[in-house]
Amino acid sequence: MPVISVLSLKGGVGKTSVVLGLAGAATVKGMASLVIDLDPQGNATSLLATHEPAASAADVIARPSKASLEAALTTCEWEVAPGEVDVLASGPGLIKFDSWTGQAFKPRLARALEHLDGYDLVLIDCPPSLGALTREALAASDLALVVTTPSYFGAQGVERAMVEIEEIRKTVNRRLKLAGIVLNRVRSVAEEHQFRSHELAQIYGRSTILKPALPERIAVQQAEGFGQPVHLVRTAGGREVADIFDGYLAALLRKS
Ligand SMILES: Nc1ncnc2c1ncn2[C@@H]1O[C@H](COP(=O)(O)OP(=O)(O)O)[C@@H](O)[C@H]1O
Ligand SMILES: [Mg+2]
Repeated sequence: MPVISVLSLKGGVGKTSVVLGLAGAATVKGMASLVIDLDPQGNATSLLATHEPAASAADVIARPSKASLEAALTTCEWEVAPGEVDVLASGPGLIKFDSWTGQAFKPRLARALEHLDGYDLVLIDCPPSLGALTREALAASDLALVVTTPSYFGAQGVERAMVEIEEIRKTVNRRLKLAGIVLNRVRSVAEEHQFRSHELAQIYGRSTILKPALPERIAVQQAEGFGQPVHLVRTAGGREVADIFDGYLAALLRKS
C-alpha cells in the first residue's frame, strides 16, 4: 500500500487538484484509495466526504490509535466505477498541530496508519506550508510528490520542499523517496513558463519532472465544481488532464 504525500510550500499551486486527479485515476483502475486531508482548509474533505465524520485527522494525530483512525474515516460517493475512495477528513483542530512545539519530532500519523488495512493507495493532501503537519505526512509516506507552478517563487518553494524531504528521510523515515515534481498550470505559449520548466529540469534532473506537465485547463475547475473527478469531465481538456493523471499514477506505482 504505497503512501504518497503531495506537498508544496505555497497554496494554490494545485496540490488538492493533483490528489483528486490521482484518486480519480486510481478509481478508474479499480483501486481502493484513501485520501488523507491534512490541510486545515479542508478542500479535499468538502469535495469528497459524503457524510460529516465523527472525528477528523486532528483526532487521529492527537490519539494515534486504531479506534480514532476508524472513527475519522468516511466514504466518498464519486460516480466512478469500479474503484472506491475513502477520506480521512480534515478538521479545524488540525491548525494547532502545525506549529513547532520545541520538542523533538515524534511522528504520530505514521503510528496511526500502521492500523490501516484494505487500501491499494493512500494519498496525503498537505497544507500549504512546510510545518509540522507536512512533516507528519512525510514521516508516514513512501513517496513525496512536490507540486509547483512554473514561476520564480514556485522554484524557490521546490528548493525548500526538497530540503524538508531530505531532512525527514535522514531523521525519521528512511523509506521516503522523492517521486518527482509536478509542474502545474503550464501555458505552453508563455516564455516565462518555458524558462522555469527548463530551469527546474536543469537543477533537479529531467527525470525528476513528471511528464508531460499539467496544462492550465478549465476542466480542472469544472471537476471541482461538479464534485467529481476530472475523469468525468467529458471535454477535450478533461480527457487530456485525465490521461495525464493516469500516466502519473502509473509512474508513481512503478516508483513505490
Ligand atoms: N491545471 C489547472 N488548470 C486550471 N485550474 C487549475 C489547475 N490546477 C489547479 N487549478 C485551480 O487552481 C485552484 C487552486 O488549486 P488547488 O488544487 O486547490 O491548490 P492547492 O491545494 O495547492 O491550494 C483551484 O481552484 C483549482 O481548480
Ligand atoms: Mg489544497
